[in-house]
Amino acid sequence: MLATLYAKAVDADAPRSILRDEYAKAAVARIDYDWDATTITPRRAPSVAIRTAHFDNWTRQFLTAHDEATVLHVGCGLDARVYRLDPPAGVRWYDIDYPDVIGLRERVYPGRDNYRMVPASVTDPHWLAEIPAGRPTLFIGEGLTMYLTKDDGLALLRRVVDRFGVGELQFDAFNTFGIRTQVINSVVRRSGSRLHWGINGPDDIIDEVPGVRLLVWQSVFDSDTFALVSPSVRWMGRVMAAVPALRTMAQYHRYAFGREC
Ligand SMILES: C[S@@+](CC[C@H](N)C(=O)[O-])C[C@H]1O[C@@H](n2cnc3c(N)ncnc32)[C@H](O)[C@@H]1O
Repeated sequence: MLATLYAKAVDADAPRSILRDEYAKAAVARIDYDWDATTITPRRAPSVAIRTAHFDNWTRQFLTAHDEATVLHVGCGLDARVYRLDPPAGVRWYDIDYPDVIGLRERVYPGRDNYRMVPASVTDPHWLAEIPAGRPTLFIGEGLTMYLTKDDGLALLRRVVDRFGVGELQFDAFNTFGIRTQVINSVVRRSGSRLHWGINGPDDIIDEVPGVRLLVWQSVFDSDTFALVSPSVRWMGRVMAAVPALRTMAQYHRYAFGREC
């Protein structure tokens, strides 16, 4: 989460910045860390920024349809989505991550109305039970599913659908090829993390999480925000997209649950 934060800060300084995330820049300035250790460079930062821009767009769409809503931003890390989007007063927003991460978050970001930071493992069922149900609920898991085991990830999605009744699940995923080849992902390798859950398509979710309906499943290469990267990266994306295992290496998933909303 330090790598993704730093990527957004680096992107903010680029002449053709994708996110212009001044909050990320300010957070980086406040944390004493050897940022080069993240392996993020100006060339690599856009690939993180487009993912974040993608989920900003999907979140905006949900909040435009539901100005009274609950947002569960799960595995939030140090992402500043709640500040970038500045949701309307009827939205209750929860940022959830491990206690150490939330401890750091509390030091770099201010509080705001209708906003809570929740220090918990997302796989622990207790934190969810404390979030009031009764409003359309958006679950956002950006850069999260691959860090969970399949059983923990599916259990989390089922718990959200069961508790909140109506809403959307939005998350990204690596396929099993991406999980098997994780050693070539230098950001993951240098962070010392291990990836577990590979998702190969929407059936992996629909067959396992009762009550969800597919809204969008797409390769990162096919998403609107991929058009924002440099021409050379777009060209590389076109080449990769010709190989099925590479085309779906990183995917965006969006599902509805409950009555039409
Ligand atoms: C790659 S980072 C992404 C952070 C943020 N969503 C972003 O895009 O900048 C993955 C995040 O998931 C969090 N995470 C992974 N497993 C978790 C768990 N079991 N409980 C809580 N947070 C978890 C990590 O602490 C980290 O902040």
